[in-house]
Amino acid sequence: MVVHVNTSVSQDWNDSPFNPDNDAAYQQWRSHKLAGLPESVQDLIVDVDDAGKLTAEEISAMLERLQRYNSVVYRQRSAAADHKAIAHAVSNVFHMQRLDNHLCAEDDAVSTLQVMPEGTRHEGYIPYTNRAINWHTDGYYNTADRQIRSMLLHCASAAASGGDNQILDHELVYIQLRDLNPDYIRVLMEPDVMTIPANIEQGVEIRPAITGPVFSIDPANGALHMRFTARTRSIEWKDSKLVQEAVQTLHDLLSDDNPYVMNLHLNAGEGLLSNNVLHNRTAFCNDAEAGQERLIYRARYYDRVTKVAGI
Ligand SMILES: [Fe+2]
Repeated sequence: MVVHVNTSVSQDWNDSPFNPDNDAAYQQWRSHKLAGLPESVQDLIVDVDDAGKLTAEEISAMLERLQRYNSVVYRQRSAAADHKAIAHAVSNVFHMQRLDNHLCAEDDAVSTLQVMPEGTRHEGYIPYTNRAINWHTDGYYNTADRQIRSMLLHCASAAASGGDNQILDHELVYIQLRDLNPDYIRVLMEPDVMTIPANIEQGVEIRPAITGPVFSIDPANGALHMRFTARTRSIEWKDSKLVQEAVQTLHDLLSDDNPYVMNLHLNAGEGLLSNNVLHNRTAFCNDAEAGQERLIYRARYYDRVTKVAGI
């Protein structure tokens, strides 16, 4: 069975800057976006006293980053005690309530990402190893009604070395592709452009194949959404020369040479909150004796972070 990611769009599609046929709206949105670019990763960072008890001022500073860059990194000044509680507190503040109850998440839908020994239920899932993770947005294998629009990575403990993240705002990649050739956007918005094969374990289908677009519009608010993985093994792309060219160009943009790529290293008490921008992770080495074992709490949501009541 193949499940198609539904690509229904709002009636405002004609006015959308993401509609490749609306150049006027695109140019206006593009100018605004490019005028507010971060100069470095420092611009994404907000220092906070206690991420578990964010003040109105801190929340407002975080929202400002999210609106401009689709990402914010909070950096806690004090030593934190209960990192999992912080992950919950941050998501509550930003009204990120609809948690994705992932295959590997615990009951409360906040996943604990750490190296898991062989033979556990996490075996075979790269996030639970110390291996590198290629560029992707979260939940690219989810159906339309379960697309991940925002996510939180809270670091409780960093590795002895490595475990760095790179992030790339998907709106900027959209601009880069559209400026090169608006037809790249057209094909990457086609509802049958990318198929993720079924997840079959020991002959049992855990998840069916999922077909859908790379770029789509969030029906709730008209925001741009991206569904992508740079993994090449068994991803089925629509058989067309233009699709091939668009995908190759997209892969080429996922490089250190892209000036919009930001490098991050999360330390204990720091977290990345994002509207599910493109991201990756380098391999890492733990040092158990030194207490340097990477531990990240991750939560994923079906809603974008847009606004917070009272702010
Ligand atoms: Fe991810």
